[in-house]
Amino acid sequence: PTSTSRSSARAEFVVVANRLPVDLERSADGTQRWTQSPGGLVSALEPFLRSRKGAWVGWPGVPDVEVDEFSDEGLVLHPVTLTSEDVRDYYEGFSNATLWPLYHDVVARPVFDRGWWESYVRVNRRFAEASAAVAGEGATVWVQDYQLQLVPSMLRELRPDLRIGFFLHIPFPPVELFMQLPWRAEIVRGLIGADLVGFHRPGGAQNFLWLARQLIGLEPSRGSVGVRSRPGMVQVGDRTVRVGAFPISIDAAGLDSLARSKAVQERAAQVRRDLGNPKVVLLGVDRLDYTKGIDLRLAAFHELLQEGRVEPKDVTFIQLATPSRERVEHYQQMRSEIEQMVGRINGEFARVGHPAVHYLHQSVDRAELAAFFSAADVMVVTPLRDGMNLVCKEYVACRHDLGGALVLSEFAGAAAELSSAFLVNPHDLDGVKNALEQAITLDPAEGRRRMRALRRQVLTHDVDRWARSFLEALGTEAAT
Ligand code: ADP
Ligand code: G6P
Repeated sequence: PTSTSRSSARAEFVVVANRLPVDLERSADGTQRWTQSPGGLVSALEPFLRSRKGAWVGWPGVPDVEVDEFSDEGLVLHPVTLTSEDVRDYYEGFSNATLWPLYHDVVARPVFDRGWWESYVRVNRRFAEASAAVAGEGATVWVQDYQLQLVPSMLRELRPDLRIGFFLHIPFPPVELFMQLPWRAEIVRGLIGADLVGFHRPGGAQNFLWLARQLIGLEPSRGSVGVRSRPGMVQVGDRTVRVGAFPISIDAAGLDSLARSKAVQERAAQVRRDLGNPKVVLLGVDRLDYTKGIDLRLAAFHELLQEGRVEPKDVTFIQLATPSRERVEHYQQMRSEIEQMVGRINGEFARVGHPAVHYLHQSVDRAELAAFFSAADVMVVTPLRDGMNLVCKEYVACRHDLGGALVLSEFAGAAAELSSAFLVNPHDLDGVKNALEQAITLDPAEGRRRMRALRRQVLTHDVDRWARSFLEALGTEAAT
């Protein structure tokens, strides 16, 4: 943030998300600074919203702080305060130990806790009230993600004049799993307060339409939902709610030009030199999350080394893992498992000065990330379930040289668009090993053919197109 000027004008276009695009960092000596918030939601929405000069309602990322609204290069940020109890019950609890695992195919066991639910309702109301105070008459409010599924209905009650959109950035689960949730009808009622409910994939939209019929007795349309087309319709009193599929993407042109810059190219060459110029560099980039399958890809790499199918002197694995949700138990378990695996692989296969796996539990800036992408021969993206996964699209956007290969899980939303990747079932360890080996030994001409196809898709379907298609379907001026 460059300026701290106050602005009390009400906004025409408002994004509401659990997090602000920037996180307040407080160090031990009491100094504060703002850094970019983690995760795909912020990576995707921030560049888009900056170009529209909208308002953003969200949490500054630390408990118990009151921060006044401030503007940051045209974007007006409205901080919502969460207490330590809110963070424990609403954020770490209901959002990230109930909804997150439930919506990701129960990869970990969701915890159902009534106290957490009550906190979720309270905090959603706080976000709805904050948004109602910020939005101008007839404004468009775009609510984001699983942490805020009750906001659309709460906000509609407070402000019937608003145009309200909702987008879910994570998968919407199969109905059999959703039905486990004790508060399933409340969630569907919360979402149905929007004029448009958006998912990444048509399957998610269809599941939601089925639940609207089964759980709250509405009568949704029956035709199949298309990608950015043929949204489902549900009549709720005198309102028509649309339900559609809008696969999210990245600022592809911005990343393409960053990757072409001399500084990034030089840094990429430096990274390879620092690694001792191995023949092949494998790369993983994720938040440290148990849905991402970091353990599976390490297990596959380990077996390839043990079987002599790859030589440690030729092949190096880099895993960048952003710290995430560190007080939630499943995250702590996953972190120790991954760190043990890294230790074990290096114990067996490293030589002095040459680890087989470089593991950085750190976040790096965009230019540094672009350099890693440019330096990597094989990008390994193996989530057990992922709403979209932006990392694989970012890798493709950085490969103007048509170099590199992408190994991608079938269970990432992106797999539906990136069919020229080496698609794998992450549960099938032999399949992952074979795909890694194929990617490592890929014929360059075949690699270029695949990368050209991937780039055609990513560069023509960027985040701007995603946002425009959503806002057009919402029927708002903000689309122009
Ligand atoms: P998720 O939203 O679940 O974290 P995505 O793949 O959709 O997953 O988005 C992750 C975003 O975070 C991407 O923009 C990616 O570049 C960024 N990111 C992930 N790991 C790191 C890291 N170690 N350093 C910097 N950025 C990272
Ligand atoms: C995913 C979620 C986002 C979330 C991000 C980072 O992308 O869809 O809503 O902001 O992860 O997670 P965190 O819990 O740190 O906000």
